[in-house]
Amino acid sequence: MKELINKLIAAGIDKQEAKKEISILYKELGGNNLSEINKIVLERIKTRTPIQYLLGKAYFMDFEVKVNKKVLIPRPETEILVEETVKKINNCHSQLDWESRQLINKSKNWIPTSVGMTLTALDIGTGSGIIAIALAKLIPSIKITAIDVEKEIIDLAQENAAKNNVSEKINFKVCDLFSKHTEELFKKNKFNLIISNPPYVKNETANQQDDKTIRQPEIEHEPKIALHGSKENKSGLIYYERIIELIIGRGLSRQAPVMLAFEVDPPLVHDLKSLLKKEGLNNFEIIKDYAGLERCLFISL
Ligand SMILES: C[S@@+](CC[C@H](N)C(=O)[O-])C[C@H]1O[C@@H](n2cnc3c(N)ncnc32)[C@H](O)[C@@H]1O
Repeated sequence: MKELINKLIAAGIDKQEAKKEISILYKELGGNNLSEINKIVLERIKTRTPIQYLLGKAYFMDFEVKVNKKVLIPRPETEILVEETVKKINNCHSQLDWESRQLINKSKNWIPTSVGMTLTALDIGTGSGIIAIALAKLIPSIKITAIDVEKEIIDLAQENAAKNNVSEKINFKVCDLFSKHTEELFKKNKFNLIISNPPYVKNETANQQDDKTIRQPEIEHEPKIALHGSKENKSGLIYYERIIELIIGRGLSRQAPVMLAFEVDPPLVHDLKSLLKKEGLNNFEIIKDYAGLERCLFISL
């Protein structure tokens, strides 16, 4: 085991990461399967392909998903986004008295999780489906629409939802955030929660990222559309701008009370705050990640 860890370290892989990867390989493939483990380690060293792609699977919170090079590898920071979102939904619910719950139940338009109340959520850029699947597992009464741009991505997310027994709570759709189709989706549905870990890596800074969650050169193997997006993304903000525009602007009627939950790139937070203030969205909160960096943004409308 030590020898394999040293091989990874010698190839430039961080010591802690090397230890973690070798223990994953032993766990996944079994200690007797040394030839297969060696094969994967060699491939890892030669190509710097992330271990999750080599194994075809990854873990998010406490569950497993299938991954391939069409989707981003789940990040620990996204777990914070989900945990904080669930916390907020639960807090919000526990602060309500019985009467308010009845009113909310009748009006069917707030953030609810008690008996008879269903939270409606939209996961934008679902990728492997991790956010939608985690919410479906953690919130008893939730109906989620999860969108992404390509059929192959949606097929994989759907497979992951089935593997985790939450298919009936998630409606997966191939849908481009920038299309008219999404405008229809927003018009026809009253989402209580809009959650997204959107592509936020600026095009021109792709090769100079100092963000430790975006690993080099492993990042080269991850889909450009997941990192930068389907359109030119010079500012890193175009997805946030589009989502905000869909909710408050361009003639679309303002929705029922909504919480927006975003994962953000810490260097973008300053510009994002300016954007929110410009749009009159002053009711927001920022949550830091394990490294103390501003990572999640919650906006109440
Ligand atoms: C940063 S990844 C997040 C994936 C997953 N939600 C996660 O947290 O691991 C962004 C996702 O947005 C999707 N995406 C990119 N452009 C999009 C668009 N125009 N409309 C919808 N989804 C898009 C990508 O395919 C990718 O799956």
